[in-house]
Amino acid sequence: MNGEQDVAYTLVSEEEIKSIVADVAARISKDYEGKNLFIIPVLKGSFVFAADLVRALSIPCSVDFLAVSSYGAGTKTSGNVRIMKDISCTLEDKDVLIVEDILDSGVTLSFLCEMFKTRKPKSLKVCTLFDKPERRRVDFTPDYVGCSVPDEFIVGYGLDYDEKYRNLPFVGVLKPEIYQ
Ligand code: IMP
Ligand code: MG
Repeated sequence: MNGEQDVAYTLVSEEEIKSIVADVAARISKDYEGKNLFIIPVLKGSFVFAADLVRALSIPCSVDFLAVSSYGAGTKTSGNVRIMKDISCTLEDKDVLIVEDILDSGVTLSFLCEMFKTRKPKSLKVCTLFDKPERRRVDFTPDYVGCSVPDEFIVGYGLDYDEKYRNLPFVGVLKPEIYQ
C-alpha cells in the first residue's frame, strides 16, 4: 500500500494536476520568453512539481536546489526556517524563480525572498503550486499560483506528512486521525 488508505478524499486529481502544471508552465514560458530562467525548487516538497514544471516549459532553464525545514513531524510551521542545503552557485544577474509546493503561513517564502534578494539577482519571482490564503501569518503574494486550496492538511504529489505520502500521484486531504 502506498498510503492511499490514509487519505480522506482526493482534493486534486492526477488529471487536474496535469492541467494546472501545463497552465502555470505556459504563463511562465510567455513571461520569460527570450530569457534563460534560473529555477530553485524548494526541497523536499516541490521535487515532483518542479520535475513536471521544467519539462512543460518552452524556454531554456537551469536548476539548482535548496532544502529548508520548518515543520518537523507536525502540520503547523514551527515559525523557524532552517536552511538544510543552500544552492551552490551565485544568483548575480540571473532571472530567478523560486518553486514551492505550497504557500501556507508565508514564513518560508518571505524568508527565502529576503535571503535571495541580498544576492543581487536580475529578477526574483515565486511560483507555488498550491496556496492556502486563509492561513497567512506574514504578508506574502506569489507571482504564480497553480490553485488555491482550503485550510486542510494535504498530502501527495511531493507533499508529505512526517516524510510519508510524497509518492501519491494525486493530492488528498489526510485523515485527521493520522496526525491528531
Ligand atoms: P509556510 O512557511 O507556513 O508558508 O509553509 C510552507 C511549507 O509548509 C510548504 O513548503 C510545505 O512543506 C509545508 N506545508 C504547508 N501546508 C502543508 C500541507 O497541507 N501539507 C503538506 N505540507 C504543507
Ligand atoms: Mg515545502
